[in-house]
Amino acid sequence: MVKRKYVLASILAVTLISWIYWSSNHEVNNTIKILSEQESFKHTIIQPSDKLCTGNPFLVIIVTSYVGHIELRSAHRRAMPQKLLEAMNAKRVFLLAKIPEKDKIITQEAIIDESNIFGDILQGSFVENYRNLTFKHLMGLQWASTACSNASYILKVDDDTVFNLERTYRLLETLDANDIFLLGYILNNTKPRRNKENKWYVTREEYSRKNYPAYLSGWYYITTPKTARKITEEAIYHPKFWIDDILITGLLTEALHIKLRQLPRDYWLEYYELLECCLRDMINKQINCDSVVGPNGGRENLIVEFNDAIRNCDKSKKCTKRDESTPLKKVCIVNSERTIFSNGQPQVELYQL
Ligand SMILES: *[C@@H]1O[C@H](CO)[C@@H](O)[C@H](O)[C@H]1NC(C)=O
Ligand SMILES: *[C@@H]1O[C@H](CO)[C@@H](O)[C@H](O)[C@H]1NC(C)=O
Ligand SMILES: *[C@@H]1O[C@H](CO)[C@@H](O)[C@H](O)[C@H]1NC(C)=O
Repeated sequence: MVKRKYVLASILAVTLISWIYWSSNHEVNNTIKILSEQESFKHTIIQPSDKLCTGNPFLVIIVTSYVGHIELRSAHRRAMPQKLLEAMNAKRVFLLAKIPEKDKIITQEAIIDESNIFGDILQGSFVENYRNLTFKHLMGLQWASTACSNASYILKVDDDTVFNLERTYRLLETLDANDIFLLGYILNNTKPRRNKENKWYVTREEYSRKNYPAYLSGWYYITTPKTARKITEEAIYHPKFWIDDILITGLLTEALHIKLRQLPRDYWLEYYELLECCLRDMINKQINCDSVVGPNGGRENLIVEFNDAIRNCDKSKKCTKRDESTPLKKVCIVNSERTIFSNGQPQVELYQL
């Protein structure tokens, strides 16, 4: 009788130990799986030359670009040619992902050729998808903060962002490269979309809080390699969230207590129509456009036209300052409901004058 009890206890103990062993292993395996997915942004298939960032660049520009957007990348290269970048001690890299299977228009060979010609491609081993943008964005910050750790500043833009480099420098020259910060267009008190039909629909499992923390539009923001490094290090251990701007400039900066800073007034043109109007006035009326950033509204060449017009204004010295009694937003009437940001879909505003 005593023996039987003993056997039973042994069986029980063995079962318990096996179970503990199995479940902890299972947990370890799960953790490894999660960690390796979190680290997807570290795996790349095309890199720019190791030498790209030697020396001490003043600025490194990272441009998120859909792998198939060859024309947009070409427009960036024409708007800010290599010669200009060199003269300004700036570097530029385009952030791409793998070609999705259903995209038959672009081939990997063409991307390899592009990389061989321009040396400015960083391609991740994850597939292009808006749900993978987080990886692409982190990949860019990771690369800029390691390969370009000597750079003073990082500028992150999207390939459909229109911006001017010389004006960006005017702003950079007022900053301190030793500070820890992100400087951009702050979006505050925005809410997750809970409507299933919305492209930016977010489940409560993905994000349970009522509001998003303050974050920056990913169209254009400025940071430093030191700040970017803190963010990418934190990202590995932080729960993943697929809306890249909100995760990277909002949730991670909140966790790290990194300050967000707002760009000066009039720096930013929220709508394509405003940018187009600012540009038209520079060309036709020689009124200087004080703004630096805006969306291209689907016009690939707009970044080239905008930069050309600003440079002509600066060179000719004929452009005048806009009359304060007729601000741009009054002159250019944008009379339609539209979303300001195509990516995070934080707000829909009725812009009416
Ligand atoms: C960064 O700058 C330091 C000091 O100026 C220099 O020794 C180092 O080689 C630079 N690193 C790179 C990657 O250029
Ligand atoms: C990227 O997105 C696709 C489609 O949503 C998905 O199948 C794939 O697993 C993602 N890649 C990574 C590395 O998560
Ligand atoms: C966002 O708004 C809250 C309150 O509405 C405020 O306390 C906070 O400072 C704001 N954050 C930023 C970065 O502007």
